[in-house]
Amino acid sequence: MERLNRMYILAPSLLAADFTKLGEQIKETESAGAQYLHIDVMDGVFVPSISFGMPLIQSIRPASGQFFDVHLMIVDPEKYIEEFVRCGADGITFHLEAAKDPWAVINKIHQCGAKAGISIKPGTALEQVFPYLSQIEMVLIMSVEPGFGGQTFIPKSYERIRRMREYIDANGLCVKIEVDGGVGKKNIREVMRAGGDVFVAGSGVFRKNSISHNISKFREAFEEGLTGSTDGKNGKE
Ligand code: DX5
Ligand code: ZN
Repeated sequence: MERLNRMYILAPSLLAADFTKLGEQIKETESAGAQYLHIDVMDGVFVPSISFGMPLIQSIRPASGQFFDVHLMIVDPEKYIEEFVRCGADGITFHLEAAKDPWAVINKIHQCGAKAGISIKPGTALEQVFPYLSQIEMVLIMSVEPGFGGQTFIPKSYERIRRMREYIDANGLCVKIEVDGGVGKKNIREVMRAGGDVFVAGSGVFRKNSISHNISKFREAFEEGLTGSTDGKNGKE
């Protein structure tokens, strides 16, 4: 059954952008209709890789009116929240596995005036995040192991998204489900049908074709989803 007030959001992941044209590419995602910009912060401790941090967010903030969706793949997230919000984060998602006191992190994010999200890795039981769902705005289900862009979507994620959707709906919660990792035009319809609301796409937005073309494919899928005509389509061009 389709939910009322359904809305799908695309969150291009900056990690896959061409950094020599960063401002330009961000503007292109915005004018093509991506409401969020997904910003992956990695510390080399929680995940093996290191990406970027506050100075980058601060410098791109004036270039975009998008919702800055900051995905913290770092240990001790509570230490840095104030600074990320000051630099321009609108939403901060931290990893449940990385937080010693998730309630304190949620409170800190809200006190700073941002939306709070919790992310879980593919191997973390969904139940672990249930107690927090009524107090956060977004739950991020990782569909790859966090740490790198360009990986393949893990198929068991569909079932995890479905179960999360069922739990949220059954309990009348209004928390968005974000899906991150290996999402592209080939599987977007299936991820939507499983119950996602916000779709992160790095390679799917910034690679192969132009950004505007890639985003138009996601938007087609979203429009079909809203008019209830996704069934039977498989995302072929
Ligand atoms: C992975 C990051 C993702 C990544 C997605 O740890 O959280 O946001 O950039 O990249 P794609 O869409 O290429 O899988
Ligand atoms: Zn991410």
